[in-house]
Amino acid sequence: MKVLVTGGAGFIGSHVVNALVLQGHTPIVLDDFSGGRTSNIPKEVRIYPADLLSKKTEKIIKKEQPDMVIHLAAQVSVAKSLEDPAEDAAINVLGTIKLLGYCLKYNVKKFIFSSSSAVYGHAEGEASEDFPASPLSFYGTSKSVSESYIRLYHELFGLPYTILRYANVYGPRQRSDGEGGVINIFIEKLLNGEQPCIYGDGTQTRDFVYVEDVAQANVAAMVYGDNQTINIGTNTQTSINELLTHLSVLLDSSKPPLYLPKRDGDILHSQLTNLKAKQLLHWEPAVDLPAGLTKTIESFLKERE
Ligand SMILES: NC(=O)c1ccc[n+]([C@@H]2O[C@H](COP(=O)([O-])OP(=O)(O)OC[C@H]3O[C@@H](n4cnc5c(N)ncnc54)[C@H](O)[C@@H]3O)[C@@H](O)[C@H]2O)c1
Repeated sequence: MKVLVTGGAGFIGSHVVNALVLQGHTPIVLDDFSGGRTSNIPKEVRIYPADLLSKKTEKIIKKEQPDMVIHLAAQVSVAKSLEDPAEDAAINVLGTIKLLGYCLKYNVKKFIFSSSSAVYGHAEGEASEDFPASPLSFYGTSKSVSESYIRLYHELFGLPYTILRYANVYGPRQRSDGEGGVINIFIEKLLNGEQPCIYGDGTQTRDFVYVEDVAQANVAAMVYGDNQTINIGTNTQTSINELLTHLSVLLDSSKPPLYLPKRDGDILHSQLTNLKAKQLLHWEPAVDLPAGLTKTIESFLKERE
């Protein structure tokens, strides 16, 4: 199948592209390279450097006539969404709406969307898909609003979809500069002999899911889970303090963390149930945290060689 992967040069998108190639599909990448890198994408894959919001997007879809669209391109930073909510909404909400329109116009068979646990806000304990959306940031709001448009595009115009709400994704190719994931930031700091920073007291928890598992969930959604909203997580919580302890052991470091004030918009606890993913997508995480951390460290060390 021909699949347009928006944001395919980014962290998760590039793993989705790899998984599609491995399964004999033909991915095409649309990315503006604001966060993505060409080096993340296999050479045989066609790349269109384009801003989602530009006129080029429609032209690409018209020309390529993809069977499906996997939409990952986004403004991904919670902090930036608080600094510039309009820009966040333009890329995440307006970008998604425009793409939905083109999918309908050019007969795309399915729209697969990367949503986030950020839609839940403070869920005490584990969040299942029916937990009411109550985002704490404009980023979470932009994902929640996009979800509503996707469901309405299905209800009003019949465009099939699967919405995947990811927990905290980690693994190779995640950026450690700027707004990168906490795991890669910690690995980089510890390897450089620097002190890792923890915002808050470190007891906040996250559900860490390995990036190749997330890529597999997207591939599964091409076949299963039509018109469903499905969590993609491990149904476990790890505190930031525990995470740092794991990484310190693996990297043989004894640097104590620097505790800084808690950041606005940060969720306190996050754990996503994954029963629906198991039942409807026939998906479950294959890589546990110790194995995933080891793989991530290995790829980090390889990149440094
Ligand atoms: N990383 C996580 O833990 C996580 C968790 C939940 C949801 N998500 C979602 O998964 C998706 C991928 O995130 P990621 O972590 O791989 O981030 P990423 O920044 O690595 O990937 C996003 C990609 O989108 C591209 N992009 C951004 N704005 C664009 C625009 N206007 N036009 C075209 N391309 C644009 C960037 O260049 C980048 O390659 C996003 O939708 C994000 O919200 C990520």
